[in-house]
Amino acid sequence: MSEALYPVPAALAADARITASTAAAMHALAASDPDTFWRQQAQRLDWITPFTKVDESSFNEADFGISWFADGQLNVSANCIDRHLATRGDQPAIIWEGDDPADSRVITYAQLHEEVCRFANVLKSHGVQRGDRVTLYLPMIPEAAFAMLACTRIGAVHSIVFAGFSPDSLASRIRDCDSRIVVTADEGLRGGKRVPLKANVDAALDHCSSVEKVIVVQRTGADVAMVAGRDLFYGPARDAAATDYAPQAMGAEDPLFILYTSGSTGTPKGVLHSTGGYLLWASMTHEHVFDYRPGEVYWCTADIGWVTGHSYVVYGPLANGATTLMFEGVPNYPDHSRFWQVCDKWNVSIFYTAPTALRALMREGDAYVQAASRASLRILGSVGEPINPEAWEWYHRIVGDGRCPIVDTWWQTETGGILIAPLPGATDLKPGSATLPLFGVHPLLVDAEGQELDGATEGNLCIAKSWPGQMRTVYGDHARFFQTYFTTYPGRYFTGDGARRDADGYYWITGRVDDVINVSGHRMGTAEVESALVAHAKVAEAAVVGMPHPIKGQGIYAYVTLNANEEPSDDLRKQLVAWVRNEIGPIATPDIIQFAPGLPKTRSGKIMRRILRKIAEGETGALGDISTLADPSVVEKLIADSQLAS
Ligand code: WT7
Repeated sequence: MSEALYPVPAALAADARITASTAAAMHALAASDPDTFWRQQAQRLDWITPFTKVDESSFNEADFGISWFADGQLNVSANCIDRHLATRGDQPAIIWEGDDPADSRVITYAQLHEEVCRFANVLKSHGVQRGDRVTLYLPMIPEAAFAMLACTRIGAVHSIVFAGFSPDSLASRIRDCDSRIVVTADEGLRGGKRVPLKANVDAALDHCSSVEKVIVVQRTGADVAMVAGRDLFYGPARDAAATDYAPQAMGAEDPLFILYTSGSTGTPKGVLHSTGGYLLWASMTHEHVFDYRPGEVYWCTADIGWVTGHSYVVYGPLANGATTLMFEGVPNYPDHSRFWQVCDKWNVSIFYTAPTALRALMREGDAYVQAASRASLRILGSVGEPINPEAWEWYHRIVGDGRCPIVDTWWQTETGGILIAPLPGATDLKPGSATLPLFGVHPLLVDAEGQELDGATEGNLCIAKSWPGQMRTVYGDHARFFQTYFTTYPGRYFTGDGARRDADGYYWITGRVDDVINVSGHRMGTAEVESALVAHAKVAEAAVVGMPHPIKGQGIYAYVTLNANEEPSDDLRKQLVAWVRNEIGPIATPDIIQFAPGLPKTRSGKIMRRILRKIAEGETGALGDISTLADPSVVEKLIADSQLAS
């Protein structure tokens, strides 16, 4: 573990938006008088009806519920657009950089207002009303942001499905929230390759009776099938739509969006976020953690299909009147210099990406980075998985030329925004540590029995008290929300992560302690991959675990037991990989499939994943006690057949 310490650069220590002394005062107020602290912080939003209530949350079963600013009213699109018009109508709100470096578009706040109003009018003309769920299956094009904000203007609830998901995954998400309307594009474009989005929607809708309208944005102009009466092109509808739409006053606790995420069991959960608390959290963390200053160009490389794209491409930066860069492409197209070329082209000050991208670029050598000046860069961010100190040092030394603090931001889909991260003007950095909790965030570490651990220690990471950006429920299943997050350690929110805390109080996230794996910063439930595998006609049983992977962080290792009359073969292995990609999407591609005549089970029939994990990690010397297995001999067979070397 790296013990290096990177102190706050002197210039930042003096003029950051939050310096060490402001940070100390804010932490002190948040701890001693949270009610006053949050009343003050919430003034950064424009309220239509001021709130009188603040935190009314409880993690206890008897009075369980999360609620912030409940009697206040506001509109998210008015906060992200209208209130900036008087002072920065002509400032770029969104800089869109296309997949092809010759393709770009700059959208000012005034233009954003017009586009969002037009989109809202199109949605309304097709019957979308306050509270309706609208599924968005879109590539990284400006219309994706317009559609999100248009929903919020109406008070409709968007559910974005990442455009890399399969038709089946899309269908189950549409069904779960009962959307009547889907917005998509003819095709997506990534790294020069076309993604057949409209065709995927058509395939999904064979299994969704709720959908009445499909709005198709023409991105590539491809010739796509259109179902009469159901499908329409966005372009002509947009041209005919009015350029004004009055923002709907929404309660702070009204739902803002649903975003599906994987858990350790069952189908993906519809994480539901609120209007007031979520926007406050996205906005304040964006300003504090990135030290955002007016006029700067800020770039988060995440796709809007993930929570990072929601909070840090769209809502946080736009609520702050920032210029946010939206990138359609990939880091290695046309070549591995693309990120840094884009930084130079648009004078990017703040750059936020994932460790997996950094590791992949690091492997290609420094020349691609040094081909660009990167002189505009000031702050670098990391998110999605633990960043290994080697990648951290490379990011700092090569990408940032040793000048730019790195903010390693720990959070989750459920948390709405960043909870643990450095403040660049106040926090000394340690490579590999997300450092300290933000204002009003109360992490704690517990042992397996739920006993709180003090001082420098390691344990399971919980949060003791609610914060405004916390998810409010699992859509359609409030009991599952309580059960998933608040019953393992009663009275506490359990994150599913393990962490170490050092003598300075710094947190070092060690990774998931449940059956969730993190592949290239994307969350995947092992149970989802298993159920895709057993859906194949030749598969009897499957067990999936994570394995260390040099670029992806974790890879997917699947143990598969075939039906009695089936023979293992390389061809079948390939078929199964293609099958899972088709069932879930390319992000679920198994890295290794090992045919296993038997899986290690206890006498009661429970698969001992601990053993499968060890084999997938290549640590076959440290399997621990296997005497409780029904048939210990299966373990030797598994080790002998391990696919790690292949
Ligand atoms: C899980 C949440 C946060 C938005 C993107 C992922 C892991 C996330 C870090 C970090 C170590 C991290 C955790 C967490 N994670 N950021 N900076 N250091 N681990 O959101 O898909 O909901 O995944 O990602 O394991 O629980 P998500």
